[in-house]
Amino acid sequence: MSKPIRVMGICGTYDLQSANGRILEIILDQCRELGAEVTIWDHGANPLPLVGAQGSWEDENVSQFQTMATDSDAYILSSPEYHGTMSGVMKNSLDWLYSKHTSGKVFGLVSTLGGQSSNNTLNHMRIAARWIHGWVIPEQVAVANIKKAFDENGEINDEAVRNRISALSKSIVENSKKLRR
Ligand SMILES: Cc1cc2nc3c(=O)[nH]c(=O)nc-3n(C[C@H](O)[C@H](O)[C@H](O)COP(=O)(O)O)c2cc1C
Repeated sequence: MSKPIRVMGICGTYDLQSANGRILEIILDQCRELGAEVTIWDHGANPLPLVGAQGSWEDENVSQFQTMATDSDAYILSSPEYHGTMSGVMKNSLDWLYSKHTSGKVFGLVSTLGGQSSNNTLNHMRIAARWIHGWVIPEQVAVANIKKAFDENGEINDEAVRNRISALSKSIVENSKKLRR
């Protein structure tokens, strides 16, 4: 039997109790049910310095982040939209990744918005993932009006959004298996 694929979640907020942290948890649980091994980078516990800050090139968290990425077959990027684009936390995370870590691997994209739905953050993350030679799956999810998006159990209210999330999880696992070297 072949080794399970490994999926890594990267959150665009420091706090995994955030909306993006919860959405990553939902997706990673679904990937696990589909047979994947899953990991998540915890920016709150292990913050990454800004690229180029003093000491950043030798930072232990950066080294562990890059190792986790190298050991993964696929990535889920989940970012809040800030001023029409991905958060600084997400952009800085991607700036620490190079094609030697991510080339030929699968990316799935999620964005959350305080306001109405938009594809800006998804499109911007798609461009960055392409720059590090990732294969971004066409399934993607923007979760609008984020304060009203969850019920009291932390589940997504809107069935259409739930279906899009399930389709994304399935596509991540299936396409990672196809592309794995
Ligand atoms: C600095 C900042 C900028 C924001 N800009 C936008 C925006 O351009 N469009 C929007 O719909 N929401 C915007 N928001 C709301 C966030 O997208 C929202 O709080 C986030 O998606 C919630 O996710 P989280 O719980 O993971 O932080 C902004 C919030 C902050 C703090």
